[in-house]
Amino acid sequence: MRLVFPSLLLALTVSASQATHSPHASCTLTAAGSGKDDSPAFISAMQSCSTVVVPTGTTLNISTRLNTTGLSNKHLSLQGTMRFNPNIPYWSANGFPFTFQTQITFWILGGTNIVVDGGGTLDGAGQAWYDAFASNSSLLRPITLTLFQATTMINSPEWFNFVNEGKNVTFNNVTFTAASTSSNGASNTDGWDIYRSDQVTIKNSVINNGDDCVSFKPNTTNTVVSNLNCTPLPTVFLQLTSASSLGQFPGVFDIVENCDSYWDQVTLFSLMSNAQNGARIKAFAGSGKGSGSVKNIVFSGFIESAVDNPVVIDQCYMTDAADCTAFPSNVVINNVTFNMISGTSTGKTVASLECSPDSRCSNILVENFSLKPPSGTATYACQNVNLTGNAASLFPACTVT
Ligand SMILES: *[C@@H]1O[C@H](CO)[C@@H](O)[C@H](O)[C@H]1NC(C)=O
Ligand SMILES: *[C@@H]1O[C@H](CO)[C@@H](O)[C@H](O)[C@H]1NC(C)=O
Ligand SMILES: *[C@@H]1O[C@H](CO)[C@@H](O)[C@H](O)[C@H]1NC(C)=O
Ligand SMILES: *[C@@H]1O[C@H](CO)[C@@H](O)[C@H](O)[C@H]1NC(C)=O
Ligand SMILES: *[C@@H]1O[C@H](CO)[C@@H](O)[C@H](O)[C@H]1NC(C)=O
Ligand SMILES: *[C@@H]1O[C@H](CO)[C@@H](O)[C@H](O)[C@H]1NC(C)=O
Ligand SMILES: *[C@@H]1O[C@H](CO)[C@@H](O)[C@H](O)[C@H]1NC(C)=O
Ligand SMILES: *[C@@H]1O[C@H](CO)[C@@H](O)[C@H](O)[C@H]1NC(C)=O
Ligand SMILES: *[C@@H]1O[C@H](CO)[C@@H](O)[C@H](O)[C@H]1NC(C)=O
Repeated sequence: MRLVFPSLLLALTVSASQATHSPHASCTLTAAGSGKDDSPAFISAMQSCSTVVVPTGTTLNISTRLNTTGLSNKHLSLQGTMRFNPNIPYWSANGFPFTFQTQITFWILGGTNIVVDGGGTLDGAGQAWYDAFASNSSLLRPITLTLFQATTMINSPEWFNFVNEGKNVTFNNVTFTAASTSSNGASNTDGWDIYRSDQVTIKNSVINNGDDCVSFKPNTTNTVVSNLNCTPLPTVFLQLTSASSLGQFPGVFDIVENCDSYWDQVTLFSLMSNAQNGARIKAFAGSGKGSGSVKNIVFSGFIESAVDNPVVIDQCYMTDAADCTAFPSNVVINNVTFNMISGTSTGKTVASLECSPDSRCSNILVENFSLKPPSGTATYACQNVNLTGNAASLFPACTVT
């Protein structure tokens, strides 16, 4: 289960001058003072002012949850910092819950035509959470910001995280940092998770996190990811499904469609020993699982460094071989391109495209690969798939099960 967790330092790096200026009231928020909670003033300003400015040098102490949904035509110019007070018992009991993957969040933001910029920081005070999680693995750690039913958002630099039921949301020039200063890692700090959303664009951003860089959960359509720098990356660069999602639940149909990831001068460094996956699609198989569709996907322009599995399709995800043969995945995968994938793996296998039997993967194009293992000859693996493209000859005759 891949939970998305909190608590990052997000540097907002979109300049305020790009924002649309409203003719209506502009309010400037400053901190109420040591020991005080700035949440009520923040919520009230977001509701009543068309522009809310948190000036440079101001740190708002957010110690109660923020529900700023149903807004329209708002500009939040966050030049200073919003810091989420790490009162763990409070957030555990009061974070907004999302049933999908059992998550909670500090802040839900939603509405129409919202611009967030200013170059400031969302500070999730992650260290307290990483340390508490080390002694309580069932601790729910909040997502810093969740865009909830947001439509038409631009330059929204900081949701470092979760887009739930969004439409036409753009993240541009955002920096996410989730680093632990103790021995307890900043685990499960996904960059973006996109769920039940359409037309989400993520571009020109830098992620220093402890988990997926971008993860497309079910019912994500028409998404473009470009020019992202993810480093260092312990697990997954970009993945289209989740351990807890595509095909996992019986009776649920999941869709991930029309997702392009063009990586222009992207560097993926996986410096940690548990570096796992580069560009990956995974889906459950086995008896009693759900169904879905992954189609029209382009992964292009990946530069990977010391990644365990640079290129992966796993359509028997968490399913043993016999079970996968008896019950092939009902998540069909069609029209996927892997193009211009270069760099190094940690083991011999540089690409593994393993589909369920019964032609559940079709139109898989592999082009312009330049992948190397640390030494010796690279291994390319495939199963139950017909590959096309100029890299297809790198693969042996695919195993048929
Ligand atoms: C990104 O943000 C930084 C810092 O605010 C700014 O200097 C830079 O011009 C921005 N770049 C783009 C392409 O907007
Ligand atoms: C933030 O607010 C809470 C509750 O009012 C308070 O306990 C805490 O000390 C405050 N933190 C800071 C840094 O002022
Ligand atoms: C957030 O506030 C809105 C408007 O007051 C309300 O309708 C909604 O139920 C609240 N959301 C949550 C998750 O509490
Ligand atoms: C661990 O976290 C869970 C979920 O927040 C909580 O219910 C439980 O009481 C915590 N356990 C301990 C020992 O603190
Ligand atoms: C998406 O958002 C952009 C920027 O605000 C806007 O120009 C465009 O019209 C929106 N598109 C749709 C389909 O709503
Ligand atoms: C995804 O969309 C399909 C088709 O509209 C729908 O049947 C399914 O319930 C949706 N799944 C989720 C998780 O929202
Ligand atoms: C395959 O997917 C790409 C990228 O989304 C799209 O441009 C193309 O039209 C698709 N091809 C077919 C035959 O649907
Ligand atoms: C592979 O690279 C060649 C040469 O740059 C280019 O013409 C071709 O379109 C690339 N393949 C794909 C699928 O983009
Ligand atoms: C591969 O192509 C052959 C010949 O068209 C076809 O018989 C076979 O079913 C295809 N295999 C898969 C896994 O789609």
